[in-house]
Amino acid sequence: EKCGYEHFMLKEIFEQPKALQDTLASRIKGGEIHLAPAIDALLQECTHLLIVGCGSAYHAGMVAKYVIEHFAKISVEVDVASEMRYRTPLCRQGDVCIVISQSGETADTLASLRLLKELGVKTIALTNVVGSTISREADFVMYTQAGPEIAVASTKALTTQLMCLYLIAMVLKKNHDATLLAQLSQIPSLAQKLLEKQEDIQRFAARQFNKDKVFFMGRLTDYAISLESALKLKEISYTHSESFAAGELKHGPIALVDESTLVVAMCTQPQLYKKMDSNIKEVKARGATALVVTFDRVHEFDDTADEVFRIPETEPYFTPMLTVIVSQLYAYYCSVLKGNDPDKPRNLAKSVTVE
Ligand code: M6R
Repeated sequence: EKCGYEHFMLKEIFEQPKALQDTLASRIKGGEIHLAPAIDALLQECTHLLIVGCGSAYHAGMVAKYVIEHFAKISVEVDVASEMRYRTPLCRQGDVCIVISQSGETADTLASLRLLKELGVKTIALTNVVGSTISREADFVMYTQAGPEIAVASTKALTTQLMCLYLIAMVLKKNHDATLLAQLSQIPSLAQKLLEKQEDIQRFAARQFNKDKVFFMGRLTDYAISLESALKLKEISYTHSESFAAGELKHGPIALVDESTLVVAMCTQPQLYKKMDSNIKEVKARGATALVVTFDRVHEFDDTADEVFRIPETEPYFTPMLTVIVSQLYAYYCSVLKGNDPDKPRNLAKSVTVE
């Protein structure tokens, strides 16, 4: 049931505040995070973390790497499942692997899970489907409470995976931080606030949906979520979109920038505003159009960007759960404006159960 929305994808984008809240609320008791006693105990002992997944699940892992290393000071290795299963993963005693899969059925992710178990790694499945193969085979399971995701392009499954990974980061951090937890708890209502501005994104898409190339760039977590943003756009709008760490611009991608390029610069890391501003000037000088996504009260980019889209203030490392909503809406409206069906993009299946 689309409940009055034109497509499942739009409905699922708008379900995110509730999905995030459901995923969060059941794990906070008395102002503290409790995942499950066995998972909490496992994480207490963990000194090196592996994360594996495909597509959006892999991107959630990329965000988590930055977040966990920053807050918990534990090294995190992230891999796409189709690589992990064929390379020689060097696992150590006490390693823990978070296996991320919305469906819990992806063939490569399942194969990685089986390989890691053989190597003696403890596995935690992070999945949206109760009773799925990955949930049954992993040592432990943590469910995203996103509800069924019908659209092929993942939205609420990805943001709820992120919420779970932030909770894991807070548990790994060991020393309790009430301020951070309070900020995390506000994310569902901030997501709601952001969705109320969807018409701004719709209007922007109406002007820009015909761009030949769209590049998403950022630094740190902004880079990690750029990967997901580019995937969303290519999946449903069939626009050639790429993402890169903004510092890599000069090492190659800038050769592709011209008047037909839209550059979306994710700028939510205050210590890197100046660096991002220089990168935006570099692409503007080659004729690109630049959209900056930054916080409400930031004016550093007003003179450089062609357009600024603002998200509510929060802890900078928490922004992927908000900035990705901007990318989801942008991709959705581009898809619709091009006459595509965003729910059933060509050549893609919801669940990739063959290699
Ligand atoms: O069900 P899974 O999370 O294992 O699926 C992984 C990918 O196939 C999936 O995220 C895919 O990239 C989506 N179409 C992304 O929108």
